[in-house]
Amino acid sequence: MAIERKQWKSAIVIAATAWMAVLFGFAPSEATAEYGDVVMNEYSDEAGMRPVVFPHWFHRIRFRCKVCHADLGFKFQAGGNDINMLKIIDGEYCGACHNGDVAWSVENCDLCHSGKAGTPTQVHESTLQKLIMPAGGAPKK
Ligand code: HEC
Ligand code: HEC
Ligand code: HEC
Repeated sequence: MAIERKQWKSAIVIAATAWMAVLFGFAPSEATAEYGDVVMNEYSDEAGMRPVVFPHWFHRIRFRCKVCHADLGFKFQAGGNDINMLKIIDGEYCGACHNGDVAWSVENCDLCHSGKAGTPTQVHESTLQKLIMPAGGAPKK
């Protein structure tokens, strides 16, 4: 039983490693540019807040993918994480860093809730035309 579980575990590790190799090994140049900002609006509009604009590229040049997508549990899907403020204030998701320690804290509502009202959850400007992105992130609208 213990051995089986170990094998299963290493199978998962191998699968995860292969996936990472696909992401970073084979297409490093596209990987740095093809994903734009992620607009998150599962709850914001309804709650009377502007949608959240997450500058993915800004974060990706500062942290390894693993920090967010493995350690912090962010799924690879725009809007796929059921994030709300309670979780953030509890130190989950964005709140793991935006706590006044690693990065500025949650009081700065407008820095995250910066989208145009009514913009649906989406990966914004995720096109190959955007091959050159300024280091500070995608241009603010
Ligand atoms: C600071 C945290 C963070 C880092 C670092 C990070 N991501 Fe993300 N990623 C996110 C968040 C947040 C989302 C959107 C999730 C949501 O909307 O719920 C996302 C979404 C995605 C998506 C789905 C949306 C899209 O753009 O197609 C992919 C694919 C992805 N990330 C790949 C990567 C890769 C590859 C890296 C490393 C090069 C990386 N991420 C680094 C936080 C991060
Ligand atoms: C792994 C740590 C980490 C996570 C997780 C994280 N951030 Fe950040 N974020 C940072 C750091 C560090 C900065 C830069 C802070 C500074 O400049 O003082 C930053 C900056 C930002 C900025 C400003 C970008 C700019 O152009 O100056 C926004 C907006 C932002 N984060 C939104 C989010 C949102 C929304 C989430 C969750 C979906 C999130 N962040 C998750 C670390 C993180
Ligand atoms: C670090 C980024 C960040 C900051 C700062 C932030 N939020 Fe959020 N907030 C989010 C994310 C991500 C979501 C989920 C977005 C969605 O899908 O609608 C969210 C969702 C919400 C929601 C809807 C869900 C819920 O929990 O009710 C409200 C209301 C909200 N935020 C209010 C605030 C207020 C008020 C502030 C300032 C005190 C604030 N937020 C600061 C990232 C942030």
